[in-house]
Amino acid sequence: MSNSQNICVRVDHVTKSFQRGSEKVEVLNGLSLQVPVGEFLGLMGPSGSGKTTLLNLIAGLDQPTSGSVWVGDTEISHLSESQLAAWRTRNLGFVFQFYHLLPVLTAYQNVELPLLLLPLSASQRKQQVLTALDIVGLSDRLHHRPGQLSGGQQQRVGIARAIVTDPALIVADEPTGDLDAKSAEEILNLLCELRTQLKKTIVMVTHDPRAAARADRVLHLDKGRLVEKDQASH
Ligand SMILES: Nc1ncnc2c1ncn2[C@@H]1O[C@H](COP(=O)(O)OP(=O)(O)OP(=O)(O)O)[C@@H](O)[C@H]1O
Ligand SMILES: [Mg+2]
Repeated sequence: MSNSQNICVRVDHVTKSFQRGSEKVEVLNGLSLQVPVGEFLGLMGPSGSGKTTLLNLIAGLDQPTSGSVWVGDTEISHLSESQLAAWRTRNLGFVFQFYHLLPVLTAYQNVELPLLLLPLSASQRKQQVLTALDIVGLSDRLHHRPGQLSGGQQQRVGIARAIVTDPALIVADEPTGDLDAKSAEEILNLLCELRTQLKKTIVMVTHDPRAAARADRVLHLDKGRLVEKDQASH
């Protein structure tokens, strides 16, 4: 079986459980969803409902207990750890709530990091880093360290790092969760631009209804299942 051409992400009857001591905790219970190429999907749901767990499966950071996850033509739920790492480098950008930038590196160096894993010449690398930082509007902050940047600017570096390898899929876990309203708005504008101008597919987890309102479609998770909005507990 392969993925259909205009579907970027297909999650098929996925379950995920974690072992906590002698207890097995079921986090996702037979969950299926599809994200068309170029869609900006929002994922909402109460704390503990399994949003990050689902995002990590879509990003190839973890494997389902059963079921399958396809991204493009690749069934990532079948890959080994090392195959997954190689797959992520080329195909996926991850944006974190708390940016996960290395404090001793400049904006330029943080964005360059994912490219060091790819067979590129120094000049190709430089061009891609400058392009990514230009897209996020930080061409004038190349040599600033994270501590010298505002939260919104740090998240823009995080987004530049996510897009620098030109992945088809961007996943973001609460990308505006640590930002004030104005910076959050700027980050959401940027995500919308990635979708409309660069044709990226984006899956974003958020608690913020204003952030979710910017997505093309919003799915609600409750206790490891997708529910209709009026059934969700918030
Ligand atoms: N590695 C793990 N080991 C054991 N249990 C885990 C693990 N990761 C997640 N869980 C459990 O899975 C459930 C869902 O966690 P998850 O982080 O996906 O929730 P979430 O919807 O992202 O919540 P939040 O909105 O607070 O970020 C929680 O009950 C959590 O304790
Ligand atoms: Mg979470």
